[in-house]
Amino acid sequence: MPAPAAGKGVIERYRSLLPVTDATPAITLGEGGTPLVRMPALEERVGAAEVWLKLEGCNPTGSFKDRGMVVAVAKALEEGAHTVVCASTGNTSASAAAYAARAGIECVIIVAAAKVALGKLAQTRAYSARVIDIGSDFDTGLRLARDLSEHPGVTLVNSINENRLQGQKTAAFEIVDELGFAPDELFIPVGNAGNISAYWAGFRQYKETGEACGAPAMRGFQAAGAAPIVLDRPVTNPRTIASALRIGNPASWAKAVRASRESAGSIEKVTDDQILDAYRLLGSLGVFCEPASAASVAGLIDRGERGLMDAGSRAVCIITGHGLKDPEIADRESVGALKCSADPSAVARLLGW
Ligand code: F0G
Repeated sequence: MPAPAAGKGVIERYRSLLPVTDATPAITLGEGGTPLVRMPALEERVGAAEVWLKLEGCNPTGSFKDRGMVVAVAKALEEGAHTVVCASTGNTSASAAAYAARAGIECVIIVAAAKVALGKLAQTRAYSARVIDIGSDFDTGLRLARDLSEHPGVTLVNSINENRLQGQKTAAFEIVDELGFAPDELFIPVGNAGNISAYWAGFRQYKETGEACGAPAMRGFQAAGAAPIVLDRPVTNPRTIASALRIGNPASWAKAVRASRESAGSIEKVTDDQILDAYRLLGSLGVFCEPASAASVAGLIDRGERGLMDAGSRAVCIITGHGLKDPEIADRESVGALKCSADPSAVARLLGW
C-alpha cells in the first residue's frame, strides 16, 4: 500500500487497517517506521540469499511493544478508562507506562522486580507508573493483572488485549511495504506468544487484500529453559538468560501454534549459549540488542548449521528490543576497559601500535 510518511505513528500510518474510528484519539510517541537493515555477514554465515534485521529496539521505549500499546491505550481512552494495568517481564511495562503518561491516565504494573532487567524497570519508573512487585513470576503476575482489570475503568494491556496484537501487526505491513514482497521466512523470539501471532495476522491480512502475493513461514524461537510450546506442556520454573522470555504458560499459545502451522513454519528452541553467541555476534556487527532479541538470530544460525536454510531464502529476523534494556548482561558479556595512564605512548603500546 502507499505508505504515508513514516514517523507519524502507526495509528495514522495504517488507520484503515486498524480497529480505530474518528472517535479514537490518535495518540503517538512516534512508534513504528523502524529500520530494516540488510546483513551480508549473516547471509554468508547461513547460506541464505537475503537476511534482513527489523530493528524494533528503535521504537520510542526501545521495544516492539510500542506498536501495540499505542492502539491499546488509544482504545482504552476511547472507552473512558482511567487506568491501564499489565503484568510484564519488563518491556510491556515500560511501553504501557510511557503511553499512559502520554495519554494522561494512570498505569499500574505488576512485576517480579528481581527478574526484570535493570533498564526496563528504571524506565517504567521514570514514566511515573505505579510498580507493584509481587516477587514471584510473570505467569502469576498475569493472573493478578487479569483480576485487577475487572475493576471499572481499568483496562488490561497485556497482549491478550486484541488491540495490542492489532497494533503489533503493523510491523509485518512495514516489512512488505519496504521490501516490496513478503519474505520467505520470518525469525522471531517467542515469550508470551503475542508477537508471532500479531505478525502472522499482519502478513495474512496483506496477502488477503492483495498487498502481498505470499506470506512467510513463521519461525518462532523459545529459550530452551522456557519452551512450553516446544515441549507441549507448561513449564513451572522457566529459566533463561533472556529475562523477557521467562514465561512458562504463554497467553497466546494456541494462536502461536496456529501461526506456525498455517504458515508452514515452526516453533523451536535455542539454548542460552546460542542466544549469547548470537548476542555477541550482533554486537560485533553493530547491532546491540537485548538477549531475548538475539533468539531470532540464534534460531537463524541454528537452522543454517543444520543445513535447513534454502540458498534462495529471503529471511527477516525481528530484533525485538534494544541492548540498553539489559546493561548487566552487556557489561558481563563484553570486554572490560583496559586500564592505562593518560599518556599517548603508553596507550599506543597497550594497543599494540
Ligand atoms: N522480545 C522481547 C524483547 C520481549 O520483551 C518479549 C516479550 C518478547 C521478545 C516475546 O514476545 O511475548 O509477544 O512472544 N516481553 C513481554 C513483556 C512478555 O512483558 O515485556 P511475545
